[in-house]
Amino acid sequence: MGIVKVTDNIYWVGVVDWNVKSFHGYTYTTKRGTTYNAYLIVDEKIALVDTVYGPFTNEMIEKIEEVIGSVSRIDYVISNHVETDHSGGMPGLMARIPKVPVYCTQKGKEGLYKNYYGNWDYKIVKSGDELKLGKNTCVFLEAPMIHWPDSMFTYVKEQQVLLPNDAFGQHIATSERFDDEVDMHFVMEEATKYYANILWPLNSLISKKLDEVTKMNIGIKIIGPSHGIIWRKDPGKIVKFYSDCSNSRVTVDNKVVIAYETMWNSTELIAKSIAEGLISEGMSVKLYNIPVSDMTEVIAECFTAKGILFGSSTHDNEMLPNIAMFIHMLKGLRPKGKYAGCFGSMGWAGGAVKDMQETLAKSGLEFVIEPVSCKFVPDKEETKKCIEFGKSFAKILKSK
Ligand code: FEO
Repeated sequence: MGIVKVTDNIYWVGVVDWNVKSFHGYTYTTKRGTTYNAYLIVDEKIALVDTVYGPFTNEMIEKIEEVIGSVSRIDYVISNHVETDHSGGMPGLMARIPKVPVYCTQKGKEGLYKNYYGNWDYKIVKSGDELKLGKNTCVFLEAPMIHWPDSMFTYVKEQQVLLPNDAFGQHIATSERFDDEVDMHFVMEEATKYYANILWPLNSLISKKLDEVTKMNIGIKIIGPSHGIIWRKDPGKIVKFYSDCSNSRVTVDNKVVIAYETMWNSTELIAKSIAEGLISEGMSVKLYNIPVSDMTEVIAECFTAKGILFGSSTHDNEMLPNIAMFIHMLKGLRPKGKYAGCFGSMGWAGGAVKDMQETLAKSGLEFVIEPVSCKFVPDKEETKKCIEFGKSFAKILKSK
């Protein structure tokens, strides 16, 4: 798709990647694809804000040249974030304009150099620094750990356009570019997935950064993130959503996720009995057999759940490998403030439940119930015990 005008003189010169189905080395599924949004600000001076993923460099350059004739007219390159989905276009672009200064944070310079080994003319910026383009001024705001140490936002102050790179993004490929052109249900679903899978462990930093931006009392008419839809109709919607997420206001009080892996079906029987107990106490349950589930989606469900239960059959005295991978991913997101429990089944010897609990011990989850498990296939008494486990977990959640 071609260039898109974001304002009279700010152009979207990014690309739509319809076919990318996983991100971050297969740790994040992107079944709706994504976009890499780059922005060209055309004034007396011309600035390019971010680039695109490397394989799409030529497509970006063609778009830039459609607007200004030649990339040689670019006066400044601004790199908000080093990660390769946004800086991958830099080597190809900078080979054409090697003397053009590159504006970035100190960490941005270190990261760009260590990725591409380009001896470019780096200009290090700090929060509050300005770059005058003519009628427009870019103001920089460092945003360390949102989501990398090098991250920063660029704010075009006269037009009140915020270009915050990954923040407020969504992995979604669309032919439309703006929030007023698309079904917001899908956008918010992807924004939730994005926050949960990438930003969840950074809640307190995001909350502080939002407070800092609020205190600056700047107007924001448009937010152009580096992935997905540009917010021009209602930028406040995504800012409020981030505020709610970072302050744990998106937790649904009666929501429980049950994530499990089963070998010969007994753990699944237990999971379903627990679900029965939870539902009988008015809980809303999401049940996932992890090996056949999309883990990115399950993590997004965990993000808004109050309780999470983990189940596994025992194999070699340990949990099964797929639930182990899920637990490993969730642990990295440091899911503080969620209540948890474990269950499982075994043949002659156990170990899965202990393994899961030990692995999650430093995750930030609060284990509030003794595990339930059974040997081989649950009998009627054991099934009843599992239903009761579900009811007890529901009562504990209600008391919290
Ligand atoms: Fe942190 Fe979209 O890259």
